[in-house]
Amino acid sequence: MSLLQGKKGLVFGVANDRSIALAVADQLIKHGATCGFVHFPGEKNERRTQKALEENGMNDAWMVPCDVCSDSELDDVFAAAREKFDAIDFVVHSVAYADRAFLKVGNFTSTPRDVFAQAMDISAYSLLAVAQRAREMMPNGGGIITMTYYGGEKVLPGYNVMGVAKAALESITRYLASELGDKGIRVNAISAGALRTLSSMAVGGIDTMFDHTVTRAPLKRNITADEVGKTAVYLLSDLSSGVTGETVFVDAGYNIVGI
Ligand SMILES: NC(=O)c1ccc[n+]([C@@H]2O[C@H](COP(=O)([O-])OP(=O)(O)OC[C@H]3O[C@@H](n4cnc5c(N)ncnc54)[C@H](O)[C@@H]3O)[C@@H](O)[C@H]2O)c1
Repeated sequence: MSLLQGKKGLVFGVANDRSIALAVADQLIKHGATCGFVHFPGEKNERRTQKALEENGMNDAWMVPCDVCSDSELDDVFAAAREKFDAIDFVVHSVAYADRAFLKVGNFTSTPRDVFAQAMDISAYSLLAVAQRAREMMPNGGGIITMTYYGGEKVLPGYNVMGVAKAALESITRYLASELGDKGIRVNAISAGALRTLSSMAVGGIDTMFDHTVTRAPLKRNITADEVGKTAVYLLSDLSSGVTGETVFVDAGYNIVGI
């Protein structure tokens, strides 16, 4: 299948072989896309990202480091991407962080200002910062997707400040979609069900989510990262040409259930 044949883009957020971004890239590549990878700086991080890419058949992939809190590092990434790819067709934003000391059940009220600001900067503002630069490289339009979680809409004990950041991220998705639509750029969020990754293991009470999903979600099971990847193919291909500003759930239907 070649839904993304000839399409080129950047994938932010492959930390290791469990990263959602890796499963997304894998599906995009299976459908014909070329991906460049943006990883958190540091030798150890670079090695881990490279290992994950190589073990999944993405040898010799183009990789650049970037802390998304830094405007100058983001500028460097997009300058390097312009050299490498000239124009791009898509961006996958799969980045989030909050101090795990404040992702414990029952301690949202204790969140200090600096922890709040850092979580918002890395997990929400960074989408805006990336889109600002990506639009300059999308002369023919394109697609931007980000990863969110149900805790941005409803209270999930332990998700805490990350839930607030996801609410902002989903709102940023809509505002970006509104402003970039006339340039043919679509912006959407995937709200993934719980998956065992480096980031999710920092969330207090996450195991309860896995159990609840099996008993309460319509599909009676947890999701796989590949299912997120397949929805990414839909959102970044012509199949979803009329869809923008949406939060698309890939959660085995968990969010539709009231009781
Ligand atoms: N795992 C889940 O259950 C789940 C569910 C829904 C949504 N999500 C979201 O999916 C996205 C990817 O998370 P994941 O679960 O694959 O975990 P992950 O830890 O593999 O990915 C998070 C990524 O964010 C990167 N990152 C953190 N701070 C950064 C910074 N300052 N600059 C650059 N990169 C930075 C990390 O290096 C890592 O690559 C996140 O937005 C997460 O909130 C995860």
